[in-house]
Amino acid sequence: MSHHGKGPYKLEVRALTLELEGDRILDGVEMGIQEGESFCILGGSGAGKSMLLRTVVRLHEPSSGEILLDGRAVSDLAPSDLRRRVNLVQQSPAMLDGTVEDNLMFGLDLTGVPPGEAKVRAAEALTVAALDPSFIDRRADKLSEGERQRVAIARAHALRPEVLLLDEPTAALDPRRTHEVERAILDLKKASTLTLVIVTHDIEQARRLGDRTILLRRGRVVAEGDSSTLLEDLDPGERARYMGELEQWHGEVKEGDACE
Ligand SMILES: Nc1ncnc2c1ncn2[C@@H]1O[C@H](COP(=O)(O)OP(=O)(O)OP(=O)(O)O)[C@@H](O)[C@H]1O
Ligand SMILES: [Mg+2]
Repeated sequence: MSHHGKGPYKLEVRALTLELEGDRILDGVEMGIQEGESFCILGGSGAGKSMLLRTVVRLHEPSSGEILLDGRAVSDLAPSDLRRRVNLVQQSPAMLDGTVEDNLMFGLDLTGVPPGEAKVRAAEALTVAALDPSFIDRRADKLSEGERQRVAIARAHALRPEVLLLDEPTAALDPRRTHEVERAILDLKKASTLTLVIVTHDIEQARRLGDRTILLRRGRVVAEGDSSTLLEDLDPGERARYMGELEQWHGEVKEGDACE
């Protein structure tokens, strides 16, 4: 795959390969994301989207290739430094025991934000994540999956990372909540130099949220371009494969979803 937009990049991935238990999960992935850009990673189930994000924050050690933050290898950064600068909201985010406030305050406290400012940030983060202020006292273990996802976004945003990685941020949400979270993501994007990387299986969401998008398939980047024209620019074979994967995905969701 040819190389992408213009540098210098906030976050750059070069020839990234990840092998686990003999399987090649990521295969020569290249991506370059500029500061303040909103970048989408699109692909069907099992394409390697989550593993790519997880590898960027070094939850997995790449087999080969490079990951650069502001031109510096992330492997050279202290883990605490990397965690502070690049924050991953996982697909099924884990919550700490206790209240939503405990969850929001924990990381702020850990990174030395004074309690007064931490409270302000926590309250603001709830608003950004489209959660009512009353959520602050809710018990984290009693939240729905969608609410948990939004608390996780709030928790990440409160820490003011330079790069925010969101893995399927709306997969567990109904259309109204999806709209609210997308609104929040667009607000985040507007208001700051924050660099956003959003994993999605939904081309329409990529169009709404992303400046540029790559399409991942079996651990490889098979297309890359402007989010609004990516699909039209695909060669017909690749487009058909992508649409097929998508149909399969929707099928899986419908089977497991009694409410729809
Ligand atoms: N710990 C692991 N060891 C070996 N293989 C793994 C591991 N975790 C994931 N995989 C495999 O890596 C591939 C990519 O998985 P990944 O979770 O990145 O897919 P995805 O694109 O995020 O899919 P989804 O849309 O379903 O979340 C899959 O084939 C998966 O089975
Ligand atoms: Mg995933």
